[in-house]
Amino acid sequence: MRNLDENMITEAVLSRHANASNPRLKEIMTSLVNHLHAFAREVRLTEPEWESAIRFLTEVGHITDDKRQEFILLSDTLGLSMLVTAMANVKPAGCTEATVFGPFFVDGAPVHANGDNIANGASGELCFVSGCIRGLDGVPIANAEIEVWQADSEGFYDVQYDGDVHRARALLHSGTDGHFSFRSIVPVPYPIPHDGPVGRMLSALGRHPWRPAHLHFMVTAPGFERLVTHVFRDGDQYLDSDAVFGVRSSLIAQWVHHDEGQAPDGSRMYTPFSTLDFDFVLNRAS
Ligand code: BEZ
Ligand code: FE
Repeated sequence: MRNLDENMITEAVLSRHANASNPRLKEIMTSLVNHLHAFAREVRLTEPEWESAIRFLTEVGHITDDKRQEFILLSDTLGLSMLVTAMANVKPAGCTEATVFGPFFVDGAPVHANGDNIANGASGELCFVSGCIRGLDGVPIANAEIEVWQADSEGFYDVQYDGDVHRARALLHSGTDGHFSFRSIVPVPYPIPHDGPVGRMLSALGRHPWRPAHLHFMVTAPGFERLVTHVFRDGDQYLDSDAVFGVRSSLIAQWVHHDEGQAPDGSRMYTPFSTLDFDFVLNRAS
């Protein structure tokens, strides 16, 4: 094939996929080429614009390492992560909705018993969290694995600090009655890392990098679909402008503030604390 003009080049590329042995790869790449070319035609992409896009993607690659995943941030801020999550997690009404995973989960969180303080020195106002893991039929799920992780009052996750100390992160198990509980800190809104190319993209687009305050949960139990979700704090100013589009109304909960008094574990508190109670409903695995 020679002398391809702007109208012929798309078909020329697609014809080279004829011998692709993986049909799903062929489907994805065919659609990608179609949409990419249509996009370039629609905006009449110029050579300087193409060069600047290549420079941007190169910078996204250069800043990415074991601790910093700028490609995930790019996907998150373009709404792609939440789109994929939404498509993969269509559940019956009554199940807890899923939301974005985010880049700050790590394997190997410390295992804690119910009632433990998981903060391990993370800064923030003390908070007692409790809830129950159930199936759609209302039956409690015993021994479900519950991973929880959150940022501190500075807006940073433990993995964003130097060193390998886990803070405000734990692996817990629901009891025989499906209940779980732990002490941690009240979450606050925080900006996603915005000192790199994705941050520059956001500010060029007049967008802020903030996420509303939330706790991350990942709940797994045999016979049920894995649930990756957050619980968002009611009243947060960023609930309707989350930088990564992850908020679902059903995941917004009340953190109740107490000036002092009896904590849920029966202890007497002489300083302010908060409580959160939130139940999770898992979908049966098909
Ligand atoms: C998070 O909630 O941890 C998160 C999600 C997407 C991008 C950055 C952070
Ligand atoms: Fe987060």
